[in-house]
Amino acid sequence: SGSGQRILVTGGAGFIGSAFVHHLVEHTDAQVTVLDKFTYAANEASLAGLPAGRVTVLRGDVADAAAADAAVAGHTAVVHYAAESHNDNSLHGPRPFVDTNLVGTYTLLEAVRKHEVRYHHISTDEVYGDLELDDPRRFTETTPYNPSSPYSSTKAGSDLLVRAWVRSFGIRATISNCSNNYGPRQHVEKFIPRQITNILDGVRPRLYGTGRNVRDWIHAEDHSSAVWTILNRGRLGETYLIGADGERDNLTVIQDLLELMGRPRDAFDQVTDRPGHDLRYAIDSTKLRTELGWLPKFTDFQAGLQETIGWYRDNEPWWRPQKAATEARYRQQGQ
Ligand code: NAD
Ligand code: DAU
Repeated sequence: SGSGQRILVTGGAGFIGSAFVHHLVEHTDAQVTVLDKFTYAANEASLAGLPAGRVTVLRGDVADAAAADAAVAGHTAVVHYAAESHNDNSLHGPRPFVDTNLVGTYTLLEAVRKHEVRYHHISTDEVYGDLELDDPRRFTETTPYNPSSPYSSTKAGSDLLVRAWVRSFGIRATISNCSNNYGPRQHVEKFIPRQITNILDGVRPRLYGTGRNVRDWIHAEDHSSAVWTILNRGRLGETYLIGADGERDNLTVIQDLLELMGRPRDAFDQVTDRPGHDLRYAIDSTKLRTELGWLPKFTDFQAGLQETIGWYRDNEPWWRPQKAATEARYRQQGQ
């Protein structure tokens, strides 16, 4: 399906956006344009080696109306990944989260409305707030919004803008809310790559608080296949939750990483907890699975971690330039 599509991927030089670009090149015949501001979170190397005949890269800000309008024109669909994505950063400097996640989404919505282009909005399970550890429920498409951080509140607001543009202006749009992604090309500020690269550097991994917080891990490649499924077969105006039944607490993840990398399971440090730290996320992706027949493929988390460790071991030139500055930022925050 999806033959002859011309797809604009915003944030395509970031972690999940670039995974989707690789997915499109490998598994579809779509023509791809990336629109990316190339913030600190982008990495040009994430798009290196892709065929020039398939992928065009534009440098621009989604919150810049002229740039967004010019980029959207001529495409059959927009998949909007661009965002400020890191909770810890949002606690120390929320302004760019408002500018990119709220104003940027608004600006893009106006461009897709004008050009009548199909739109898919990438969002997060964090819009639903958090769950108790022993709560038998998981998030579904009808869970009330209850975001905790500046990051998740701006993502929640961006989802609501999309819903209003569907209802008020009839834009052809879908939304997906996905759980925590891991895999190759994730910025070293994030939990799993931070710990892998620390261990590679001979530095002890750093656990926030007690580490009983639970995240629901999914491989970025499974996120990409889900988005492609929704883009082609999702019902317009609908929201789909994406998840792969990967609940793990942070303590277990750190211990497993240490063991997989040949260190003692207790060779980590506990550091200052994140203010307002969400306790647990958990996704029920029944709607996506039963309505659209999607299934995750990378469901062996230990194998996924092993593969991800291997990627960071083999691709030091990709992450080394960002490592010292990232750790300096964390040191200032006591983390
Ligand atoms: P990332 O931080 O790795 O990448 C974000 C990309 O967006 C970067 O390339 C950056 O340069 C670009 N960008 C930022 N501001 C921009 C702007 N104003 N204009 C154009 N480009 C801009 O983020 P990620 O982890 O790949 O997340 C991508 C999307 O997926 C986000 O919308 C995020 O909310 C969502 N999401 C992430 C996860 C996760 O686990 N990381 C889970 C669910 C949803
Ligand atoms: O749930 C989806 C969300 O997952 C996305 O919307 C966000 O864009 C993405 O960044 C991620 O948010 P988290 O805050 O869950 O991810 P992060 O990698 O920052 O942290 C994961 C967990 O690990 C969290 O409980 C905090 C903890 N942590 C994090 C770091 C960086 C540590 O214990 N130590 C660390 O050094």
